[in-house]
Amino acid sequence: MDKLLIRGGRELRGTVQISGAKNAALPQMCAALLTTERVTLLNVPRLRDIATMRQLLDNMGVKTQTHGERGGLTLCAANPISPEAPYELVKTMRASVLALGPLLARFGEATVSLPGGCAIGSRPVDQHIKGLQAMGADITVEHGYMIARLAAGQTRLRGARITTDMVTVTGTENLMMAATLAQGETILENAAQEPEIPDLADMLIKMGARIEGHGTSRIRIQGVEKLHGCEHQVVADRIEAGTFLCATAATGGDVYLKHGRADHLEAVIEKLRDAGATVTAVQDGIRIQSSGRLQAQSFRTTEYPGFPTDMQAQFMALNCVSSGTAKVTETIFENRFMHVNELVRLGAKIQIDGKVSVVEGVEKLSGATLMATDLRASAGLVIAGLMASGDTLVDRIYHLDRGYDQMEAKLQAIGADIERVK
Ligand code: UD1
Repeated sequence: MDKLLIRGGRELRGTVQISGAKNAALPQMCAALLTTERVTLLNVPRLRDIATMRQLLDNMGVKTQTHGERGGLTLCAANPISPEAPYELVKTMRASVLALGPLLARFGEATVSLPGGCAIGSRPVDQHIKGLQAMGADITVEHGYMIARLAAGQTRLRGARITTDMVTVTGTENLMMAATLAQGETILENAAQEPEIPDLADMLIKMGARIEGHGTSRIRIQGVEKLHGCEHQVVADRIEAGTFLCATAATGGDVYLKHGRADHLEAVIEKLRDAGATVTAVQDGIRIQSSGRLQAQSFRTTEYPGFPTDMQAQFMALNCVSSGTAKVTETIFENRFMHVNELVRLGAKIQIDGKVSVVEGVEKLSGATLMATDLRASAGLVIAGLMASGDTLVDRIYHLDRGYDQMEAKLQAIGADIERVK
């Protein structure tokens, strides 16, 4: 199993090219199920979750092909398509549930495995189910699978007013995709506003969908009978950019994140500035300059535009060596502090009390062998390793490979001493 060996203490300097967003590309790949025509995505990141989604779609009969240097991926869901997502694939990636809405909308039936548990919390999909039921789907759970079909006498999903109990990103995406082909108008209240949602809506609109209000908490969709192919460039990954911002703030240095979107990272950038780093939105990117010890910052994770839960571990790593004490409150997932015990092994001082971690900054971390537990926790451990003295070995980095496009190569290029070892 691959590990990352990091010799800490180097400043980061240079340019990093930010890839397309994993969490935007995954629903966009599923959106290809909504049409018989070819859909071309550009700027698709090269990472494991994308390969898994491709395998899932290939398995259904979708023809997929990568092309060009720019992360091109063409998908064609011409008939016949088998509308099934098996457990073997869904269990490795929860985002597979994003196939449910498009399959049901186009084929009137879908069999998708329930995703089951996950390292960061229970993560149910009840809101996806509730919304599709409101649109006229019959959904039963049998043998671990959601079996969905249109209610008797219906030939298409029908528009509905849906208010989800909580803000859910993939839930909003699933229902928005399903609604594009439904009969009549769908209104999604309490919709997620993460940048991946308007990026998906922009793509669907290119395919002929009629959507308004994306990027706000109320999305209105007028269903159409048919969608067509399109070409779409995947938005830049705000979490990858945020991770490199925290890494540079932690080690010190001066890095330009080409294609990074400062407007999608305001909550994180504000905290970095309060901590003492200089962060500027520049032409087609973000620049960060940092030197000396920063000030620890308290924050709460919330839905967009608040502080993203997917940046919690990385910012916590930075807090570990900042001066002062900070309170980190995780409000989205119930079990997302698994990196804490690993950080403590490097000498960090952190106490967990339910949803809150109190971090007391120390002068220095010292390298050790660490175990990655989930995708973003792994990124937090890499940042800690970059700051620690001596060697840090991060084990189980397959988690990192799920969501970061060549992270160690990008870090090496800006001066980090990091290598992949078997
Ligand atoms: C997406 C992101 C993930 C990010 C998360 C929160 C993708 C592929 N993944 O995950 O990286 O960490 O948003 O920003 O885009 N919930 C329910 N029932 C549901 C749906 C959600 O109870 O039917 C709960 C979840 O358990 C969680 C909260 O709602 O506590 C938010 O989850 P949600 O926004 O749905 O996360 P994902 O879309 O799975």
